[in-house]
Amino acid sequence: MRKSSHSRSRLSILFLVAFVLCFLSNIDLTTSSSSSLDMKMIQQLQQFIIDCTSPDGSLSVWKDKVDVNTYHSNFAILGLARAMSTTGTTTASVYAWNWFRWFVSHQSNSTGYITDYTRASSAFAWSSTNDMDSTDSYAALFIMAVASVYAVDKNYTTNQIMPGVRNSVKAMQSTMQNGLTWAKPNYHIKYLMDQSEVYAGFKSCEYLAKVINDTSLANTCSSAASGMIELVNQYMWSTSNFNYNYGLGDSDVVTPSNWTILYPDAASQLWPAAFNFPLNKSTNALCSTFLKYHPNWKYPNAKDYLPTLMNVNYEMTPCGYALISCGLDVSDAVSSIWSAANASNLAYPFHCGTAGELILLATGGYSTPVYQNVGPTSSTPYVYKSSSKTISGSSSQHLSPTIIFYLLLFSTLSIFIA
Ligand SMILES: *[C@@H]1O[C@H](CO)[C@@H](O)[C@H](O)[C@H]1NC(C)=O
Ligand SMILES: *[C@@H]1O[C@H](CO)[C@@H](O)[C@H](O)[C@H]1NC(C)=O
Ligand SMILES: *[C@@H]1O[C@H](CO)[C@@H](O)[C@H](O)[C@H]1NC(C)=O
Ligand SMILES: *[C@@H]1O[C@H](CO)[C@@H](O)[C@H](O)[C@H]1NC(C)=O
Ligand SMILES: *[C@@H]1O[C@H](CO)[C@@H](O)[C@H](O)[C@H]1NC(C)=O
Ligand SMILES: *[C@@H]1O[C@H](CO)[C@@H](O)[C@H](O)[C@H]1NC(C)=O
Repeated sequence: MRKSSHSRSRLSILFLVAFVLCFLSNIDLTTSSSSSLDMKMIQQLQQFIIDCTSPDGSLSVWKDKVDVNTYHSNFAILGLARAMSTTGTTTASVYAWNWFRWFVSHQSNSTGYITDYTRASSAFAWSSTNDMDSTDSYAALFIMAVASVYAVDKNYTTNQIMPGVRNSVKAMQSTMQNGLTWAKPNYHIKYLMDQSEVYAGFKSCEYLAKVINDTSLANTCSSAASGMIELVNQYMWSTSNFNYNYGLGDSDVVTPSNWTILYPDAASQLWPAAFNFPLNKSTNALCSTFLKYHPNWKYPNAKDYLPTLMNVNYEMTPCGYALISCGLDVSDAVSSIWSAANASNLAYPFHCGTAGELILLATGGYSTPVYQNVGPTSSTPYVYKSSSKTISGSSSQHLSPTIIFYLLLFSTLSIFIA
């Protein structure tokens, strides 16, 4: 557009009129429709998660309530915790605490492991599948979920749940070999994705241990987490491929990453940043390479390599948390993921975990609560504050009268200068 002094003064008058109108009518100036939080979506996702719960406390993969995968359930709970801090109402936390009790009563007390469960749709009783996707991440997600819920609602004591947290720490430690965790006792791959989650699990344990003033547990978890930072930065980066190896096998043999594979290879590059794992490489470079290879990560119905060519589906959502940490606006990703889910009427493969993941994406990504030394009895709820410039934690923001005053002054002056 060509600029001239005439158009500038006309523009100033336009601004002046616009600001006066905004001031009088209190129109929202700063929140564009693309970056404002869709509270209706958050509420629908929260309701969907609640619809996956049963009176026995279980939180199923989907509303049919026939399968429990605790990794998905605890992702659902992370979303529920964020929904509560975003809406400012904690009435849903009863589902979270009931779920934690279910988890603890189904977890092995000797190993700290928990399997998947299934039941006939008419049955009340659950039966174990005698297997799980991983032991390390399942344990990590549980501790992350407990910490996140406690951080938003302290109207519960962690007494009944802490044995489950301690068991989960035991589960993570049990496959830790040279400081990093195998996926399962009999599945010897140290996935970078799992290390990212286990790190967040240990940091969440540190938070909870400080809440209950258990210095010994806090130190155990804090040093396990710190140890992982050095090891991942040292052994998982490939100097020849300029990316992270997505895993280390037996004897720490590397499994190199191929950027053209969305899952696990490319997603692994973003998982550490998504779960607040400190990397000493440029996260911005990882974000931009990821987007160059996988611009369709945010379209559940697009096809990509996972690792074979198939629908992207919904479980790539945490990649967006890393993109947020790179300062990128993910509101279009929130819209595209939500519109695909909504168009399918939240049909599987959308599930309780992906609902939780989407709530986090819409509200700034995952962040591990950090213990503030205000004492374990503080009842001040944790209020989520977005770190991203483009995503606001509240649904509307208004310019303060002071700013409007200066803008008016500036516009008026600029007319005279022009
Ligand atoms: C583990 O111990 C707790 C507390 O004693 C108990 O409630 C729970 O049922 C036990 N878990 C299993 C799988 O037996
Ligand atoms: C606190 O939790 C109890 C259940 O343990 C519940 O009955 C009560 O309504 C809760 N209070 C608030 C303020 O949420
Ligand atoms: C926390 O533990 C320390 C050391 O055991 C003790 O001195 C202190 O009084 C405890 N504080 C609280 C609030 O329980
Ligand atoms: C990252 O950390 C590893 C392990 O300490 C170290 O070997 C490497 O030189 C570091 N790289 C950068 C870019 O700081
Ligand atoms: C990376 O994956 C793509 C897609 O499967 C494949 O065509 C390509 O050969 C792979 N590259 C390497 C170096 O393995
Ligand atoms: C969700 O789907 C309903 C129809 O089932 C439609 O009316 C509505 O506009 C959709 N909302 C979004 C955000 O896509």
